[in-house]
Amino acid sequence: MLIDAYGRAVDYLRVSVTERCNFRCLYCMPDKPLSWVPHSEILRYEEMILFVRAAIDCGVNKVRITGGEPTVRGNLDYFIKMIADYAPNIDLAMTTNGFLLGDLAAALKNAGLKRVNISLDSLKRETAGKIANRDILDRVLKGIEAAISVGLQTKINCVPMKGINDGEICDIIERCRAWGVSVRFIEYMDNTRAHKRLRGMRSDEILEAIASRYEFAEIERDLKSPSRLFALKEGYIFGLIEPHREEFCASCNRARLTAEGLLAPCLYYDEALSIKSRLRSGDVAGAVAVFREVLANKREKNRFGQERSERAFYETGG
Ligand code: 5AD
Ligand code: SF4
Repeated sequence: MLIDAYGRAVDYLRVSVTERCNFRCLYCMPDKPLSWVPHSEILRYEEMILFVRAAIDCGVNKVRITGGEPTVRGNLDYFIKMIADYAPNIDLAMTTNGFLLGDLAAALKNAGLKRVNISLDSLKRETAGKIANRDILDRVLKGIEAAISVGLQTKINCVPMKGINDGEICDIIERCRAWGVSVRFIEYMDNTRAHKRLRGMRSDEILEAIASRYEFAEIERDLKSPSRLFALKEGYIFGLIEPHREEFCASCNRARLTAEGLLAPCLYYDEALSIKSRLRSGDVAGAVAVFREVLANKREKNRFGQERSERAFYETGG
């Protein structure tokens, strides 16, 4: 079992397979200019899996594939199968924008992927297109439906932003309820790559919008997830992810491996250590030693609103 400096057990590893993306979401990536890390500097799947297996041996029981947009990297099913073959019982999930899922969902499911979280910020073609800077909505909706139909456990992520999609919160709940999937509303986290004038809704504002149409009550949280959970009177469950809340980091159980081979204890802070050279020379024990050092130095909590990380969320694996 891995324990950080504040006594938190770390059993959840997020693995970013690429920092590249086919969208340019307002809250994440500038439209341009972008210089991508060259392919030669990105870990190969065979290098990543060395660390993923070692982390599982140390007690990690949940692995989430992230990006950038993970599905833009080729042969993702091959990597997922390597993880699933090694540890069929772990919680193996992916966060995706859904655009390519119509084509990939079946192969990913067959490879051993269990769950997907898919971004859906608007049900209006124009608004969704404005947020992602691409005309995306039709394909994202098809991707969500493909994920559901192949039997991937599916959740929706939505970032409510003032003046953009703030009027759609209840409609998104309605659509997710019709699909039979749960939605998580995520408070916008300020970051250096986001569109400058973006204003996210805080959780109390999101709850207020929901209260205008529904009766609901808070229910017990799943301690393995950072979201607070709520149930509508009819039983539908939705979640809120509130990184600005004082206690948010107290239950943090995660660490991150970036596509470039950095181990980052936190999305928020710049500090991270590279295990690339160790993985490239096959020194897995050395990589695990670095992992323990990173966790020993994991900070107690984020400081949104006071300082900003220079490393992009899409590099760290949002
Ligand atoms: N603030 C809040 N959520 C974000 N995401 C990405 N960037 C941000 C941000 N700045 C979330 C999106 C997406 C997932 C990859 O991370 O909801 O679903
Ligand atoms: Fe791409 Fe996800 Fe960032 Fe949007 S939030 S630009 S889909 S990595």
